[in-house]
Amino acid sequence: MSDEKNVVQENLDNTAQAEEATQEGAAPKKKVSRKKAIIGAIIAFVAAFGFGFYQWHETPEFCVTICHTPMNQEYLQTLYANPYEPAVDKWGNEVEYAGGMLASIHGNMGKRCMACHTPAIEEQVTEGIEWITGNYYNPLSERDLARLVFYRHAGETEFCLNAGCHNISKTGLTQITADMSRNPHSWHHSEYTCSDCHKAHRASVMVCTQCHDDVEYPMGWISAEEASNLEHQYMSWNEEQFLAAA
Ligand code: HEC
Ligand code: HEC
Ligand code: HEC
Repeated sequence: MSDEKNVVQENLDNTAQAEEATQEGAAPKKKVSRKKAIIGAIIAFVAAFGFGFYQWHETPEFCVTICHTPMNQEYLQTLYANPYEPAVDKWGNEVEYAGGMLASIHGNMGKRCMACHTPAIEEQVTEGIEWITGNYYNPLSERDLARLVFYRHAGETEFCLNAGCHNISKTGLTQITADMSRNPHSWHHSEYTCSDCHKAHRASVMVCTQCHDDVEYPMGWISAEEASNLEHQYMSWNEEQFLAAA
């Protein structure tokens, strides 16, 4: 950032020099200075624009204005929804309490899209190409944790459990929810992964209800059966194919 300031300062100096030169009317020198001043002005403009762009790039509005246009407002709404009030999910289904969606809880704590979707250049380039060529589904195919971590080269658990986010171990998690009727973090059935239950842009699902009818779950969450009745709940992308092809 200080570099950018320096560039701007330098350009101002250049411009000032050019003006001086013009006033003095020193012919051979003048030409060079003016050229420098123009280039300087362009650099200053690009630097200022670039800096503004960089800041804008970090806002949720950037994500939905630039690329995620087919579903734009839907994702934004899940971020800005009050966790204690009803809301709609990314597909337009009603959610009893927005807090059942991770985006709402995190948005309420001042987190933004990129807090979770930490930029990964490979992913952005791939998605950019998919966007330009129209090679994507609308509604967007849902990403499971495996796909979210793929470009970030992190383990599945580290996506959420890391020093910068939830600084806790899986064992720690087990203890936090130990007093629930069926501890969702008991890892009793190892086939379930975090994203089977925790959903960011739609109501989280207590998958254990599929077989156990004595399961309690938090406000805004839904049962496995309710989840299977959601509109657009299909997953149009085969994750295994994706991982095999990549
Ligand atoms: C709490 C972390 C978190 C935040 C904040 C967040 N996301 Fe997500 N996002 C996820 C997760 C997890 C998924 C995987 C699907 C899901 O859980 O709904 C996802 C999936 C997506 C997808 C892929 C399509 C899909 O439905 O799976 C898009 C697009 C997306 N998010 C956009 C956004 C935008 C835009 C914002 C900001 C307005 C945002 N996300 C904020 C965690 C987050
Ligand atoms: C079977 C469903 C299920 C699975 C699978 C699951 N969770 Fe949870 N998780 C829950 C429920 C239910 C809560 C309690 C939420 C609440 O009280 O709002 C919770 C709470 C949490 C919390 C908040 C704990 C706190 O500080 O209060 C974190 C962090 C978390 N889960 C991370 C994970 C991670 C990481 C994974 C995968 C390794 C995972 N969960 C897998 C259901 C699940
Ligand atoms: C596909 C059906 C099915 C699902 C889904 C399921 N379970 Fe189970 N679960 C069973 C069966 C059957 C048993 C009894 C056999 C056994 O003990 O392995 C059981 C046993 C258990 C036990 C041991 C109970 C005891 O009394 O010893 C726990 C704890 C448990 N499940 C927790 C969960 C949690 C937490 C989830 C959600 C992540 C879940 N189950 C999802 C079928 C399921």
